[in-house]
Amino acid sequence: MVEHPFSFAISPALTLTDVAERKIIRRVSDLRRYFADTESLESMIKDGDPVAYEVLDIPRPEREGELISGLSILYPGLVGAEYFMTKGHFHAVRGTSELYYCLAGSGLLLMENEQGEWKTEALTPGRVVYVAPGWAHRSVNTGTDERLITFFVYPANAGHDYLTIEQRGFRKRVVNDNGTPRLVDGGADSQSVVSRLVGTPGSNQAPEKSELKTQ
Ligand code: F6R
Ligand code: ZN
Repeated sequence: MVEHPFSFAISPALTLTDVAERKIIRRVSDLRRYFADTESLESMIKDGDPVAYEVLDIPRPEREGELISGLSILYPGLVGAEYFMTKGHFHAVRGTSELYYCLAGSGLLLMENEQGEWKTEALTPGRVVYVAPGWAHRSVNTGTDERLITFFVYPANAGHDYLTIEQRGFRKRVVNDNGTPRLVDGGADSQSVVSRLVGTPGSNQAPEKSELKTQ
């Protein structure tokens, strides 16, 4: 098969045009095992199950030499104290990387590797994040009313390992602490930390020591 170059546009409305795209929609109910505050999550699902994010990508054969690119559109919102975020994943082929270019909104790319290191990078319009090989990645929308829109590109043979993150979570979570994004530990006790930050009725404990850190 002869391959031909092609082009496409990212329209002013921040959608893809001139290209056949595939669209994935993730609702809050698709993120059941990801947010710490399960009570808030279940009540949001009952109240209409809003869309958390959409991914528009350009399908290509999933083989070495090909690239997959597209838009990730993450809506603003909170589940308890935790900002709307993507599931997050490692690439199944750990040696593959990815580029994210932020087009609109504000947020973070939260990343960690299997050696125990973690890192966040700001996503604001014009900034590019290079996700190095071996780093799991998750986008977090820390804005109050704007969508976080990023253009991504990664090797088509990368594959996606969601299970590792679904089962053990990220080492850090990003929560809204009185209007300020904060990183808190994402370990076993993260649910109580997150509910304390959101001010669970009857609890007047001070928020756990937390940090917003860019390594
Ligand atoms: C692909 C990639 C992005 C994400 C998108 C949604 O490797 O990193 O296209 O797929 O931002 O996030 P996930 O896939 O974690 O639900
Ligand atoms: Zn990826």
